[in-house]
Amino acid sequence: MILALESSCDETAVAVFDPAGGLAGEWVQSQIELHGRHGGVVPALAAREHLRHFAPLLALARDSRGGSAVTRVAVTRGPGLAPCLALGVAAAKAVALDKGVPLVGVNHLRAHVWSPFLALHAEAPPEFSARLEAFLPHLSLVVSGGHTLLCAVDADRRITALSSTRDDAAGEALDKGAKLLGLGYPGGPLIERFAAEGRDDAFAFPRGLERSGDLDFSFSGLKTSLRYLLEKLSPPAAGARLPDLCASYQRAVVEVLASKTRTALSEGGFRSLGLSGGVANNRRLREACAAEAARAGISFFAADPAHTGDNAGMVAFAAWADPAGAVDEGMGLGIEPGLSLGG
Ligand code: KG4
Ligand code: ZN
Repeated sequence: MILALESSCDETAVAVFDPAGGLAGEWVQSQIELHGRHGGVVPALAAREHLRHFAPLLALARDSRGGSAVTRVAVTRGPGLAPCLALGVAAAKAVALDKGVPLVGVNHLRAHVWSPFLALHAEAPPEFSARLEAFLPHLSLVVSGGHTLLCAVDADRRITALSSTRDDAAGEALDKGAKLLGLGYPGGPLIERFAAEGRDDAFAFPRGLERSGDLDFSFSGLKTSLRYLLEKLSPPAAGARLPDLCASYQRAVVEVLASKTRTALSEGGFRSLGLSGGVANNRRLREACAAEAARAGISFFAADPAHTGDNAGMVAFAAWADPAGAVDEGMGLGIEPGLSLGG
């Protein structure tokens, strides 16, 4: 049984995972409402909330089925907000020390990479490793508020970064775009809601680095182009065109993600495609990625809605599924806020 803690950004989360039986329990305390009032995540407030919520969530995990059988503690060590990561790592150390069990640090991005496979594991836990082999090498598209990257998971489950964003992440572009449109935080779901009523060919937004020849992303030009457009439109005109603006903006984000994924698939010899991170909630993006996988004739795994945004289930799962998760870091475990995929 693995007890996992996640606190890299604005979700406090705890999970208990049984490699032989699947997730035994998971608990998430979201801070979206609090940060929504400030228009984005405020690190000091996030840390205060993690401090408030970890103990009650850990008590729920302790009292749950499997809570007393924990043999390993896993915690997100980075990337993320330093004061938030520090609280998670400190709490995890206390629990591991008390229980006398190994402590492993998990890379948050790797946890997202593994998250689409939680459902495959849940279908038949004892058969997971054998079944996974048929889907490796795997191409993973991670799209969250803080990160946008493509990476490869090879037959030995080793993860290699293929690209990243040169500026904003896709979720950040949606959040900043929504802010410019006066919609609130988080922007992705709000843009998606308005986009449903609009025409996605109404405005021509730039597709950053679409023809750069590599797999890197850039979303800051998209946000800037929306700002210039809004400066030209009168506020009532912009209000009237809100659905068209949202639909066109969302389409620009989705098309770049899909086109880079297509390029990676055409180069790679991949046997499956995965989609994860908060932006993976977006229906258009899920459809676009499913279409790319179908075009390449490979399987598609999208994280299920409980495991797209930050959660501890994926942290526990990565601690087990990723070969790096077996390393006991003991009380020396530190935080790595600026880490990317790590070694
Ligand atoms: O993975 P996540 O919860 O946090 C990070 O690790 O960063 O992702 C949050 C991001 C936000 O940018 C939010 O706007 C976006 O995911 N998001 C969406 C949707 N739901 C959340 N973006 C597009 N469509 C959605 N339905
Ligand atoms: Zn995340």
